[in-house]
Amino acid sequence: MESAKTRWYKDAVVYQIYPRSFADSNGDGIGDLRGIIGKLDYLQKLGITAVWLSPCYKSPNADNGYDISDYRDIMDEFGTLDDWKEMIAGMHERGIRLIMDLVVNHTSDEHEWFKQSRSSVDNPYRDYYIWRKGRGKNGKRPPNNWTSRFGGTAWEYDETTKEWYLHLFNTKQPDLNWDNPKVRKEVADIVKYWLDLGVDGFRCDVITYISKNVLEGGKLPNGKFNPIQQGDEHFTHGPHIHEYLRELNVNVLEHYDSMTVGEAQGVTIEQGLLYTDESRRELDTIFQFEAMEADCWNQIPTTFRLPKLKKIFGRWQTGLFGKSWNSLFWENHDQPRALGRFTGDYGEYRKEAAKMLAVATHMQQGTPYVYQGEEIGMTNYPFKSLDEMDDVLVKTIRKMGLFKALPFHNTILLKVMQRRARDHARTPMQWSAGNNAGFTEGEKPWFVINPNYTTINVQEALADPDSIFYFYQKLIGLRKDPKIAPILKNGTYKEYYPKHKDIYVYERSFEGKRLLVVCNFKNKTVPFVVPNEIAYVGTEQVVSNYSDSRLGNVDLRPYEAFVYLLK
Ligand code: NOJ
Repeated sequence: MESAKTRWYKDAVVYQIYPRSFADSNGDGIGDLRGIIGKLDYLQKLGITAVWLSPCYKSPNADNGYDISDYRDIMDEFGTLDDWKEMIAGMHERGIRLIMDLVVNHTSDEHEWFKQSRSSVDNPYRDYYIWRKGRGKNGKRPPNNWTSRFGGTAWEYDETTKEWYLHLFNTKQPDLNWDNPKVRKEVADIVKYWLDLGVDGFRCDVITYISKNVLEGGKLPNGKFNPIQQGDEHFTHGPHIHEYLRELNVNVLEHYDSMTVGEAQGVTIEQGLLYTDESRRELDTIFQFEAMEADCWNQIPTTFRLPKLKKIFGRWQTGLFGKSWNSLFWENHDQPRALGRFTGDYGEYRKEAAKMLAVATHMQQGTPYVYQGEEIGMTNYPFKSLDEMDDVLVKTIRKMGLFKALPFHNTILLKVMQRRARDHARTPMQWSAGNNAGFTEGEKPWFVINPNYTTINVQEALADPDSIFYFYQKLIGLRKDPKIAPILKNGTYKEYYPKHKDIYVYERSFEGKRLLVVCNFKNKTVPFVVPNEIAYVGTEQVVSNYSDSRLGNVDLRPYEAFVYLLK
């Protein structure tokens, strides 16, 4: 059958909703689908054309919905399938597509498949998951040395059958066995179910993990030493990954006008191309996270260095050009807020800095993603103690006492988490200066609200014509502007001053039309010299974050950013 894909995502701007923290409609302190319905006009005003909704399926919430117990129904706290249908209809009426989260590397341990699977070694669902006998005399040592992304062994012993199951995340997130064709058929059916309900695409959670390196006899080999996740080389981009993804696409996805974006931590450009080269019919796009490492090393915070970030951007812009398609983002529900990380400024220049960051990515080639709250410049939460953090990752590390050998281990962990915690992105959306930031009318939100909501909130942003919100609206609008959009979509990428440590300057060029993008990443003035190739050409300003920016040999003001059309 012919593919139905129009590749609409190349013109889209996607907004990510983390439903638990977006908007609460019923006062229970937890965001929900009717809360989202109430904000669709807001999203339409922002101009985004698709929503990526983090998981809203039934889940015991060991990892806030990334542990699914029923793939075909909605989590009670979020509402019902009827609410969901009303939500997607409301999105489609407004020209907004819906991308659902597809979490199929693992299920919840409360999924019916797993309940069956763990009940006996010859249950028909046994082989839906990855069970092995333990090592040692009594089989009381895990089958191999793989570790979980959240810390500790990746295996859990199960008394009932005296075997171990694999969980690359929490113990409540057992990994599915994709080598079992029945599992692949189940996943294809789930995908078809949602596509038939009108879904437009999927963000595929940790999709690079689905194929494990199983040796003859079923053995899973030990991994080399790796402080972050041991065994990684045996389950990332595993032996059958491309075959399984192609099968899912060819059998189901490409018969719909759908898109996929695969979460691909640690992927190289070469691997990225294997996943997304259109002729290979696997995924449409991926999220690569290299840029997220410009201020850390293996999750350990380091000093942010702009040249490192620019190099990463440049490599991906040129590496995928003409072959595949980039995903552009600063934030998501697993990352701290970008403002603190990449500009270090929350104070006087918060608005300029947030706008500058937006310019830096939105003018690149790819699909921009905006994470809830980014469009009003939300910042990290001022955590004072580990007890305030909710993330299963922090809780697991604490429970295991991973750093216990170090003196002041709690202080060190707190310091790391103050910079790195995923919780920073998960505080409730700040809608107004009113009670509980307008997130809930109930007494108690499920999670702490950033005290700066009295000044940083949607109501304030909508009332201020110069707000970060309206700046995002303008940038998003450029993707539909007949003069600018073709250059953004098709233009080549060329960087000036790649080694400069304070400014980021690049040019996009298509059919003789050029855009020059200039961003000052510093909270101080930095001199800028117009590159020779550009001197003496006519220019027209497209966007800038100061009212009187000028393209010339100028001192760029703190976080000044502008884009000019060169004629
Ligand atoms: C990636 C998701 O983005 C993250 O939030 C989750 O904890 C893991 N995958 C496990 O599903």
